[in-house]
Amino acid sequence: MFGRSEIQFMKIAIGSDHAGFLMKQDILNELEAEGHQILDCGTHSSESVDYPDIAQSVAHKVLEDDILGVLICGTGIGISIAANKIPGIRAALCHDPYCAKLAREHNNANVIAIGARISGTGIAVEMIKTFINGKFQGGRHQRRVEKIDSLEKKCHEGSQTSGLYR
Ligand code: RB5
Repeated sequence: MFGRSEIQFMKIAIGSDHAGFLMKQDILNELEAEGHQILDCGTHSSESVDYPDIAQSVAHKVLEDDILGVLICGTGIGISIAANKIPGIRAALCHDPYCAKLAREHNNANVIAIGARISGTGIAVEMIKTFINGKFQGGRHQRRVEKIDSLEKKCHEGSQTSGLYR
């Protein structure tokens, strides 16, 4: 889908639980072969691990280095839910390249989440390439993303006072 001259080389954080481990390795090899710098946040085997720990590691790298991230678990659901608890993370669970494109263009997502038991590796690679090459379009989408930020702030302030969000 992308010619070599159109590819921008990027630093990308990637992580999976055990269910996504094999897919992560394939994706990592594919992205490295294209010249991207990949930060592998684990897991490093098919031994069972808890996806929130991986979501946290990738999210921290994404925020620290202001880069994009890739998260993989069995369905992509648990790991995206966990990542979205971290302020500043906008993780989009995607099943097709169209969603991956709009996740960047409309939602300014900084993490793509994928289900290794749902999507094949070919589609996953295509989704990730579309995601990392996508550009946030701003405009009306900027206002909506700012509203997401403000919801996050209100929840944080609420948790420090009454514990209630209004
Ligand atoms: C692990 O068995 C599985 O629950 C996990 O990978 C993920 O699908 C959770 O949402």
